[in-house]
Amino acid sequence: MKRHSPIHPSVKRLLHGGDYNPDQWLHMPEIIREDFRLMPLAHCNTMSVAIFAWTALEPEEGRFTFDWLDDIMGRLEKGGHHAILATPSGARPAWLAQKYPEVLRVTRDRHRNLFGVRHNHCFTSPVYREKVALMNGKLAERYGKHPATVLWHLSNEYGGDCHCPLCQDAFRAWLKKRFGGDLDALNRAWYTAFWSHTYTDWSQVESPSPRGEWITHGHNLDWRRFVTHQTADFIRAESAPLRRLAPGIPITTNLMSFYDGLNYWEISKDLDLVTWDNYPTWHKPGEQALIASKTAMAHDLNRGLKQGKPFLLMESSPGPTNWQPVGRLRKPGMHKLASLQAVAHGSDSVLYFQYRKSRGSSEKLHGAVVDHLGTEHGRMFKEVGETGALLEKVAGVIGCTTGAKAAVVYDWENRWAIDDAKGPRNDGLKRYLEECEDHHRALWRLGIACDVIDQTQPLDGYALVIAPMSYMVRPGFAERLEAFVAAGGTLVTGFFSGIVDEHDLVHLGGWPGPLRKLTGVWAEEIDALYPEEENAVVMGKNPLGLKGPYRAHTFCDLIHAETAQVLAVYGNDFYAGRPAVTVNRFGAGDAWYLAARTDFRFLAEFYEALSAKLALPRAVAGPLPEGVSAALRGGGDERWLFLMNYNERPEKVDIGPEKWRDVEKDALFSGKVFLAPLGIRVFRRGFA
Ligand code: GLA
Ligand code: ZN
Repeated sequence: MKRHSPIHPSVKRLLHGGDYNPDQWLHMPEIIREDFRLMPLAHCNTMSVAIFAWTALEPEEGRFTFDWLDDIMGRLEKGGHHAILATPSGARPAWLAQKYPEVLRVTRDRHRNLFGVRHNHCFTSPVYREKVALMNGKLAERYGKHPATVLWHLSNEYGGDCHCPLCQDAFRAWLKKRFGGDLDALNRAWYTAFWSHTYTDWSQVESPSPRGEWITHGHNLDWRRFVTHQTADFIRAESAPLRRLAPGIPITTNLMSFYDGLNYWEISKDLDLVTWDNYPTWHKPGEQALIASKTAMAHDLNRGLKQGKPFLLMESSPGPTNWQPVGRLRKPGMHKLASLQAVAHGSDSVLYFQYRKSRGSSEKLHGAVVDHLGTEHGRMFKEVGETGALLEKVAGVIGCTTGAKAAVVYDWENRWAIDDAKGPRNDGLKRYLEECEDHHRALWRLGIACDVIDQTQPLDGYALVIAPMSYMVRPGFAERLEAFVAAGGTLVTGFFSGIVDEHDLVHLGGWPGPLRKLTGVWAEEIDALYPEEENAVVMGKNPLGLKGPYRAHTFCDLIHAETAQVLAVYGNDFYAGRPAVTVNRFGAGDAWYLAARTDFRFLAEFYEALSAKLALPRAVAGPLPEGVSAALRGGGDERWLFLMNYNERPEKVDIGPEKWRDVEKDALFSGKVFLAPLGIRVFRRGFA
């Protein structure tokens, strides 16, 4: 397995620490002194500073006050800590909003916001860009070569859009470029002949609005693409002074897993590494294992955004958040387990929001390393410290990869198109992300590493590519899938696929459009079932030995096998006996078509058999109890094995005949090993 270098030459530890806002405590120097006393006790080694500190750094236009940050950076250096230094553009000073109202965002219904909250600047405004560049240049000059600085944290959780006149002009300019200046091409792509929406002049084109045009799919899609483009453009503008003045420091921003507002594959191109903020609702009754698998997939996505390179967990909470519906406490062990899960899936850090809990405003009841208590004696402080101590023993995993042979295709543009589509269901049950998560979970529960990619990513090196609900097939994707399968790969796709092109125009001549030859099926119709209805998938003779029957629901494609072999049929309704599962030999590989949405039991048994047939590597050879997962990272000859028990009861896992060193116990183990309730164990092989 491949090993990458650390994010910065001075980083030799897994980063542990988090968002730290001393700018909230400048009037209480004793608090800051305590913060630094407590950092080593919590085994923290990294602080992300200045994230929302613009006013503290520039209290009035052109007057910069860096002394406090000099002091903090000096203390971090002296303590042997790393600094992740933020650019403060995520929240602007009141003076700036007051003097330059153009920096304030305009909503979809065309109202300009007043000053307030955060994450709400206009991403086009030249004034905002200029002010941000000035600030970033000063930060880069002052701290770009500081021994504590290891990473730039751009802004905070970029998101949302702006509909101001500047953004409208930028949208039109972007569209002109996209359609080569040809307004007829735009009209054709957006299908504007429908309801007489044809544009006769570029100036008539505006962003979608609930007060105007909001239902033209191609228009909505292009607006979302533009928002991604303009955010990336803003990121490049933010980064320019940092790259110029501090070229040795990598640049990132904190992403929000499957946040639907931005296509993160595009955004990631302008980042040196990917980092993300993770807030699972642990202990939600009956959902613990589901939450674990969903979180695993989100980690895998972040690894996928840089083609398998380690990412950083930039935020997570050592306690309940202030914003989830229910603020359940982390039960003993949960914090360490959740933290190490990130590392198991490719993170080289465990960072928190937040180091010290704020005293006022909306986040004062949000989990933190240092509580209002202010000492090292709290329960969560101790768990954070234990987690940090374990991370110190796992430092050798830095740069290691997972070598996944399977990938799930989760594509943002496809999601946008699916979510926007009217029909075949309009009751919120299309559930594209959840469908992808179910397929991923079927591999996760077997301890099989799985990447998350989109339709533009390379497919080489995979044995299995799973592309559920590929409603939109973007240019080149079908051709690359064909080459992948022809060369011996296995593809799994199915219902609601191959319906539209990149403009959301339906493929003429039969579904699944460009996937028809590869899958060997013609999907003539799609039936949407009421929530209380179901059908059955009745297995025939099949190479996977699946017995069934399985429950089908929500969506049933009515397909004809053209060149594909029929392995299962529907059990009920007027399409009883028609194909429900097919496989098509295509060159040296197979393309599966799962025509209906099924219960998870089908996916679990299907992938168990398919992955065995394809000999997909598992982290441990033996079976894993439900609610237990296993993951491997490796680099060169070294392997790290993570066993995670999400159950509140002890479990046992057979790790096989080879000897592994438990890094916490510093002893060798093989065969059956115990996992405590909510327990995590990390093993290492490569030395004995
Ligand atoms: C986000 C933000 C943080 C903080 C946390 C609270 O992730 O980036 O600033 O508000 O949420 O959970
Ligand atoms: Zn704007």
